[in-house]
Amino acid sequence: MALKRAVIFLGPPGAGKGTQAKQIAQSYGLPHLSTGDMFRDAISRGTELGNMVKPIMERGDLVPDDLVMKMVEERLSRPDCAQGFVFDGFPRTLAQASVLDGILKSRGFPKPLVIDFVVSEDKLMRRVSGRRTCSIGGEIYNIYDAPSKIEGICDVDGGKLVQRPDDRPEVVKERLAAYERQTKPLTDYYRAQGLLEAIDAGAGVQEVNRAVRQALNGARRS
Ligand code: AP5
Repeated sequence: MALKRAVIFLGPPGAGKGTQAKQIAQSYGLPHLSTGDMFRDAISRGTELGNMVKPIMERGDLVPDDLVMKMVEERLSRPDCAQGFVFDGFPRTLAQASVLDGILKSRGFPKPLVIDFVVSEDKLMRRVSGRRTCSIGGEIYNIYDAPSKIEGICDVDGGKLVQRPDDRPEVVKERLAAYERQTKPLTDYYRAQGLLEAIDAGAGVQEVNRAVRQALNGARRS
């Protein structure tokens, strides 16, 4: 089911953006562009960018806007982005959103659909502390709510499941603070333009998936 659209998943750490973005991107035939995954990939490959952002991410701070925008612009120039894309964790500051507006207009996507994942803080803490990620394919699990069939092993490719270094409670506190300070203002920014669709992301994975699809299908008709 192809969808020609720029989609932005907005929400705090652990809201379920990555879980939904993987499924939605696959079923709508769009690339999933997670800036967090791109940075983690750069870190694991030991690139210059990776070495620069590693200490920033380990503190729970945001990476400077110029580094983020350079990486995103390069990614958007690839052919698989011609029909649209699902952004997960980007933009995260008003400065990023404002530069993105210009990029999207020039690429023929003047009205992105922005889905705001709304979840209470206690659920976020449980989700983040229970998250485990496959060290090979990046599949996302949760020891409480979405465990793998065999503990510590990915169901899809047998990779070892690991905890992200920035999921330690003291770093999560910093990430939540960064979200409140720098990212939450984006909800007003996009609401004022009539682009924001808020969903209850505190429900189970399937229910949230239905809400995201409903928002996307509504946007397709508008
Ligand atoms: P990033 O990787 O983007 O992390 P995040 O936005 O903090 O989001 P998370 O990946 O923690 O959570 P998620 O919403 O994707 O939840 P998930 O689906 O995994 O960023 C990391 C860092 O990179 C930043 O701190 C910053 O330093 C840097 N960075 C990245 N982008 C940047 C940018 N644009 N600008 C500046 N810096 C940037 O789910 C979480 C858990 O919950 C999983 O275990 C999952 O199984 C479970 N779960 C999911 N949905 C449900 C559900 N409905 N019910 C129950 N459990 C669920």
